[in-house]
Amino acid sequence: MQRFRRLRRDERIRSMMQETRLHPKDFIYPLFVIEGQNITNSVDSMPGIYQYSIDRLPRILDRIKQVEIGGVMLFGIPQHKDAQGSQAYAKDGITQRAVRFIRENYPEIYVVVDICLCEYTSHGHCGVVCGTEVLNDETLPLLGKMALSLVEAGADMIAPSDMMDGRVEALRTILDQAGFPHTPIMAYSAKFASAYYGPFRDAAGSAPKFGDRKSYQMDIANGREALRELAADIEEGADIVMVKPALAYLDILKEASCRFDIPLAVYNVSGEYAMVKAAAANGWIDEKRVVLENLTAMKRAGAKLIITYHALDAANWL
Ligand code: PBG
Ligand code: ZN
Repeated sequence: MQRFRRLRRDERIRSMMQETRLHPKDFIYPLFVIEGQNITNSVDSMPGIYQYSIDRLPRILDRIKQVEIGGVMLFGIPQHKDAQGSQAYAKDGITQRAVRFIRENYPEIYVVVDICLCEYTSHGHCGVVCGTEVLNDETLPLLGKMALSLVEAGADMIAPSDMMDGRVEALRTILDQAGFPHTPIMAYSAKFASAYYGPFRDAAGSAPKFGDRKSYQMDIANGREALRELAADIEEGADIVMVKPALAYLDILKEASCRFDIPLAVYNVSGEYAMVKAAAANGWIDEKRVVLENLTAMKRAGAKLIITYHALDAANWL
């Protein structure tokens, strides 16, 4: 008889046999930065997550520094939105100022910036629009300006989440020409048009005012197409490629890890977080065990990096 239980007899041997181990450095913590002063707004649908004005950032940055997670991913919430999303690439935009603040005061924290227009456009779409159409090629130069201004402000890595075609190549070219050949690109490559982004859109104020994102984000049913998106971004020069959301798409993450040698990231998105927090608040699940189980599943499926709102809790639990 095969006795699998020999290696499960007690904690000493179980921990030796563990195939997947989480580490705080696996985690990137998303951070929402809002214009203004003395602001720490809680986000109703995401308990424990806040929008911070720059002067309040030290509250959270001190904790981030202490737990030694991999880094942060910044999302800016501007006061002023327009059709072109001009605050996304303003020299003194909220995100640019936040990057400079972190660079000056927390040089040890690795800063990733999300590159997309939806938090900055009055219509809430990820690119510029003409009528009801989200234009692809016209959006690329704006993403380029956004990326460059944030890298100039001191961002360590850029993460385009817009899902326009050709943006990785466009961004790589712009950064290289501007003297930033060493800045990596983490592409949201297999990003699905998911209902799990709902709470994020409350947190970032980025819900589209008309229509939906299905003309640029992927159909949730398409696994084979996801592999083509990943391959295309690798071809265009991405350094890390991402699957998003996480839990409902672990099949794609696993397939990608079998097929590609490039580092993989996964985004454990707002709706996934909200569900866990809601069930935990009701006493229906053991939050710590469920969170660590979910994160372990993401790493087991092949993720090198996990972008997660649980990052600080999880780092403390490990
Ligand atoms: C912006 C962006 C979104 C998320 C990350 N970057 C929202 C969207 O595409 O609508 C979602 C993150 C989350 O749900 O936690 N394009
Ligand atoms: Zn967007």
